[in-house]
Amino acid sequence: MNRRSTTIRANVSEKVLVVDDDGDTRDLLASALHSFSYAVETVESGAEALARLQTESFHVVIADINLVGMDGIELCTTLSATWPELPVIMITGYGNLDVAIAAIRAGAYDFITKPIVMDALRIAVQRAVERQQLRSEVRRLREVVESSQHLDGMIGDSPVIRRVYELIERVAITDASVLIHGETGTGKELVARALHGRSPRKSAPFVAMNCAALPTTLLESELFGHARGAFTDARQARTGLFVLANGGTLFLDEIGEMPLEVQAKLLRALQERKVRPVGGDAEVPFDARLISATSQDLDSAVEEKRFRRDLHYRINTVIISTPPLRSRGNDILLLAQHFLKKQAARQDRAVVGMGAAVMRKLLDYDWPGNVRELENCMERAVTLAELSELGVGDLPDKVCQHQPSQLVLDTMNPEDLLPLVEMEQRYVRRVLASVMGNKTRAAQILGLERRSFYRRLARMDKKPAS
Ligand SMILES: Nc1ncnc2c1ncn2[C@@H]1O[C@H](COP(=O)(O)OP(=O)(O)OP(=O)(O)O)[C@@H](O)[C@H]1O
Ligand SMILES: [Mg+2]
Repeated sequence: MNRRSTTIRANVSEKVLVVDDDGDTRDLLASALHSFSYAVETVESGAEALARLQTESFHVVIADINLVGMDGIELCTTLSATWPELPVIMITGYGNLDVAIAAIRAGAYDFITKPIVMDALRIAVQRAVERQQLRSEVRRLREVVESSQHLDGMIGDSPVIRRVYELIERVAITDASVLIHGETGTGKELVARALHGRSPRKSAPFVAMNCAALPTTLLESELFGHARGAFTDARQARTGLFVLANGGTLFLDEIGEMPLEVQAKLLRALQERKVRPVGGDAEVPFDARLISATSQDLDSAVEEKRFRRDLHYRINTVIISTPPLRSRGNDILLLAQHFLKKQAARQDRAVVGMGAAVMRKLLDYDWPGNVRELENCMERAVTLAELSELGVGDLPDKVCQHQPSQLVLDTMNPEDLLPLVEMEQRYVRRVLASVMGNKTRAAQILGLERRSFYRRLARMDKKPAS
């Protein structure tokens, strides 16, 4: 379906199927609908209509109630069972209310009476098209939510995050070493867990280790294990994480922080698929897939000789970059709503949503701490909220006081200032233009419900301020 056509006025891409056995009515309807800029196809019977719908999609069906063969009610029943999202408008005789009611019961969306009044036809078709588009939009959004949640708790639908999902799906099933690179709080660990969870190794352990947290000797014994008596405190032998992760995945976080000595041992272990526990002589084979993560630029670390070039090659068969939150557009709002719901449940607070001004602030802020910072921000906001809807006052000062790089009002000259109504209308148009007329996105950006956005547009069309 063409989503560009979510418009109140007719658009040639919207298609209407007319079903009527009377040639004059068919011609009349076809020419009227053409004049409203719809694409029209006509058929003479219910059976023909059903056959046509098997191969072609339409936005609306208009059918006469008295058809030869399969009558209109029967057709309507079949249509609403087979294509529940397709609105059907029935044409009934004037004053025949019982028939109209029967049509609605059979699943018709609306009815118009004969003789057909052009305005009534135009309005009925317009409303039906809008409803059909709304339904498709709801379905699309539901799919978005489902698909973003099916990726193991990862929320987001922006093109940049979709690319990450695609890579995860492609790479998860392989045994390739993956290096996840991204700013702090962008979800690197979540990606690592998703890779494991979708791999054939998913029922074996996922073992995570932060390489920045431990000094060299402890890091070595954690990774490779140690023999009894290997050092003063080693009263017992210890199995290393490589072996503990057998059959599963070893996740080395902050690998860029790993000391060079440990890097050398890691490289050897990866090449030989065996580890030698600290202080031991027997080598132990392992079978673990390696996933590493870093927020550093490893290329520079290699240039600066802080990271071994050969190890870099070993661990980055595939690189997945987790994009910064500020580049994910409206994902910020999807994530904010997700965290709001989660925190409201956790804190047992009746906070259900956020105001348009809050959404604007969230979208304008640049989120240096990325998703984790947003999560903290929403946790705090839910704690502070006094109403069921979050207000700007519930946000941290740094989010509230952030100035977007492009100021809308940058003039000091009173002559250049605009009445509020005109300012608003210009801004709405600008937002619409920036999303190429996509009204759903425009409404999201403006923080408006779709319906109220539509009403606003209709008012603007009737009474333009400029
Ligand atoms: N797309 C997402 N959907 C839902 N939650 C997310 C998403 N991305 C990250 N998070 C959440 O944000 C927090 C930070 O994510 P994670 O720990 O994976 O980031 P990181 O890149 O490993 O951060 P760091 O570099 O600080 O270790 C976690 O609570 C995680 O669940
Ligand atoms: Mg992490």
